Amino acid sequence: MPESRCLQGIWSSPWIFIFAASGSAVGLGNIWKFPYVLGQNGGGAFLLVYCLCLLLVGLPVLVAEVALGRTVRSNPVDTVNDLSERRIVHKAWVIVPWLAGITGFLILTFYSVIAGWSIGYLERAVSGEFRQITQAGAVTMFKDLLANPSEMLLWHSVFMVLVVLTVGQSVTRGLSALVRILLPVLVISLLGLSAYSMTVGNMAKTLDFMFGWSWQDITFDVVLAAVGMALFSLSVGMGAMFAYGAYMSKRMSIARACGIVVGVDLLVALLAGLLIFPLVFSFQIDVEAGPSLTFVSLPIIFGGLPGGQFFAGVFFTLLVVAALTSAISMLELFVAWLHEKFYIARLKAALLLGIAVWLIGIAVLLSFNHWDSKILFDLNFFELLDALTSLILLPVVAILLSILVAWFIPRTMLQNEMITKQISHFEWWYGTLKYISIPAMMVITLAGWIGV
Ligand code: PHE
Repeated sequence: MPESRCLQGIWSSPWIFIFAASGSAVGLGNIWKFPYVLGQNGGGAFLLVYCLCLLLVGLPVLVAEVALGRTVRSNPVDTVNDLSERRIVHKAWVIVPWLAGITGFLILTFYSVIAGWSIGYLERAVSGEFRQITQAGAVTMFKDLLANPSEMLLWHSVFMVLVVLTVGQSVTRGLSALVRILLPVLVISLLGLSAYSMTVGNMAKTLDFMFGWSWQDITFDVVLAAVGMALFSLSVGMGAMFAYGAYMSKRMSIARACGIVVGVDLLVALLAGLLIFPLVFSFQIDVEAGPSLTFVSLPIIFGGLPGGQFFAGVFFTLLVVAALTSAISMLELFVAWLHEKFYIARLKAALLLGIAVWLIGIAVLLSFNHWDSKILFDLNFFELLDALTSLILLPVVAILLSILVAWFIPRTMLQNEMITKQISHFEWWYGTLKYISIPAMMVITLAGWIGV
């Protein structure tokens, strides 16, 4: 029965939701993915479109997801079941939480491998391997890691054990304490490191690249990449925020809480850009290098920094913890559902799902070395999973979920849920979701599929 579960599960302080949701949003997406996607999409133009996407798509959909989670206060699958039993929506809508859970699950299969790279780099950092490293040395270091499936398997396994243990506890307890410390320390470290990076690297070119733009740089591909990145970075469209919404205290304004989460997420991504690009430009690393960009630049930054070994150790620890607080939110939907529906202990549910993720992750890590053959559309297994989740599943879930909230859930129910004092906030959100976010996501996603 949802109510009784909820009463124990509600996060007592409104801030716990903000910390948990920020913990989910801030992760490898901000520090690993954002800089390289920015690099591949021309810098300033992408950043401008990205900010618009956060505001006009990411934020409204995030609010929708959280509001839906909080209406029934159950896990997302049972939330929709409950709404259909009360004849508010058709039961076919249960496809949305299912797809959301599957998306989170699939993302975790490769997210864990990349998080494993971060653990591998943590180990290199503390053993002093970055000291005075050259650019060629940093490139070789990354290539060596990719060519070593047993090392990747070790770190992927370590990360998955951490995920299972954390998500197996009640999310309420483990998470808030962790993120409360993590976020401020991460922001302060990024501030310090990016200031250092700008003094030793090419600051002028970085500022020009990140903030300069012209109209002709805004191409369709840039818009498509920005929408995908905004959804990924805010953890929207995978049921993570849906699940956390169920734990959110009713006293909190959803719009305000989500606004803070978006702000924190953008701040961390910007600081990561300001940390990495000064070095990229002064060492003439290819800005379009892709997934290797962060992992090649960071050792060079720490290699020349006085006390670099210590700072690198701290930084990679923060990165691994940030990845962990994101990863656990990917499993939360199914763990909560198995626990509440079938009374399976959380740890057992987490273990079952974790083993499945771990096995698929092995195929992912092999696709960087022994099994790098193209399977479909000229993509290998990792690239295929990335494309399937970010270009298909994620936008589809976000679109369906937004349609469900904007067109099928009664307006009064949402109004009660939003509890914002200013009625104009509600109207702004509702109108944007209905008439901007949904059509924009539909047009952009469809056009992307047919290859406009
Ligand atoms: N938002 C997370 C990040 O930027 C990734 C994530 C995706 C988390 C999906 C939860 C669900 O790293």
